[in-house]
Amino acid sequence: MPDTALPATPLLDAIRAIVGDRGLLTESSDTAPYSEDWRRLYQGRTSAVVRPGTTEELAAVVRLCAAAGTAIVPQGGNTSMVGGAVPNEDGSELVLSTARLNRVREIDTADMTLTIEAGVTLKAAQLAAADRGCLLPLSISSEGTAQIGGVLAVNAGGNNTVRYGNARDLVLGLEVVLPDGSVWNGLRRLRKDNTGYCLRQLFVGSEGTLGIITAAVLKLVPQPKEIAVALCGVENPEAALALFSRFQAHDAASISAFELMSGLGMSFVLKHIPGAVLPLEAPAPFYVLVELASPRPDAGLRGMLESVLEQALTEGTVLDAAIAESDAQRAAIWKLREEHSEAQKREGASVKNDVSVPVSKVPAFIGKATAACEALLPGVRVVPFGHMGDGNIHFNLEQPVGSDAAWFLGQDHAIMDAVNDVVREYDGSFSAEHGIGKLKPYMMPDWRGGAELALMQRIKAAIDPAGIMNPGKVLP
Ligand code: MLT
Ligand code: ZN
Repeated sequence: MPDTALPATPLLDAIRAIVGDRGLLTESSDTAPYSEDWRRLYQGRTSAVVRPGTTEELAAVVRLCAAAGTAIVPQGGNTSMVGGAVPNEDGSELVLSTARLNRVREIDTADMTLTIEAGVTLKAAQLAAADRGCLLPLSISSEGTAQIGGVLAVNAGGNNTVRYGNARDLVLGLEVVLPDGSVWNGLRRLRKDNTGYCLRQLFVGSEGTLGIITAAVLKLVPQPKEIAVALCGVENPEAALALFSRFQAHDAASISAFELMSGLGMSFVLKHIPGAVLPLEAPAPFYVLVELASPRPDAGLRGMLESVLEQALTEGTVLDAAIAESDAQRAAIWKLREEHSEAQKREGASVKNDVSVPVSKVPAFIGKATAACEALLPGVRVVPFGHMGDGNIHFNLEQPVGSDAAWFLGQDHAIMDAVNDVVREYDGSFSAEHGIGKLKPYMMPDWRGGAELALMQRIKAAIDPAGIMNPGKVLP
């Protein structure tokens, strides 16, 4: 841990000289939104939010902080689910926002690459790629706010992992400001580059504890010419798995998303999200959103979707299904899935478990974890949903009706431990895509202890010996 003296005014004066007045926020009304996380689990404090406009400015600010021994909390869109981008409570840490590093530097449609700065939102990056006839194949519910730098720093997963992998699978090159303020320019766009340790992958998933990602080269793919989306009602997660296997057997390569939702989660969306409508005759115990996509205009996806669903309806795997007939209907179905987190937030306090198990074990995991949580906290409302196609389930728990929110949130460790016991039985992960942040470092010794954690600590000490980069996150 660094010496946590409050950043002195001379430091802020020196920073202002680099970034100018518009690059430095010091009024508490201005810094407040940067000090609290999206879930409102952590209320931190900071004396300043620094918003550099270029990589050079950012590097110069880091050099000043390194010299002063002042800790830095890198922040993108501040959409972390695990408090990964909030400063601590004593006000000693500076928030370093990447929001003004917001240029698309280059799109190369021959190399199929996007060179982009950290502060561009994921949505804006997707639109920039689409403008040139390409797809940036990464999609998460918070993409309108989440920024590329943060998305890469946490190795976001999201809806299309089943087809394209996680954020780290899309990264060809990175530009990173290191904790001493030096800049590593690794913005290569090579598909083959077998030259020693793969440094870029060290920073992807490091959650800002090793340096600040300022720009990246990402892989693009051809934009789909045909997309088919359906919402299906199913009896249980077993039926959802059977449906997934059916699609896989048919044409695994065309599946671009396979998402699971529960009846309860859907009811929260229908209750709290304006304009949300269930396009089925009747509510179902569980739902599947399946999306097929192809870069070929004549792939026949619609026909395939219909025939697989017909078979599934006949054998009873699917209770009812609605196929999107237009872009608007497609968006409306996706909205039912993407608003799950927001709807849960409006319903009350929730404890999130972002876990993964092998896809084949998802139904068994949901069954056992549900029983464990209901035994632990009678009346708790279990809301499992998420990326079934890659085995990542958001096994979220909503407070019992009429219970006290603060009391319920106080049970978070007991709940997470009960769920994680089941995750362990199935050789899963306690954090599939949200990362570790401030919420889960205490779990690391148990899950990644021994040689693995020791190695991570040695890497941290080698790259950030003074411990000024995002202290208190990831490592216990
Ligand atoms: C999502 O996939 O919508 C988010 O990662 C989920 C969450 O709220 O846990
Ligand atoms: Zn998710």
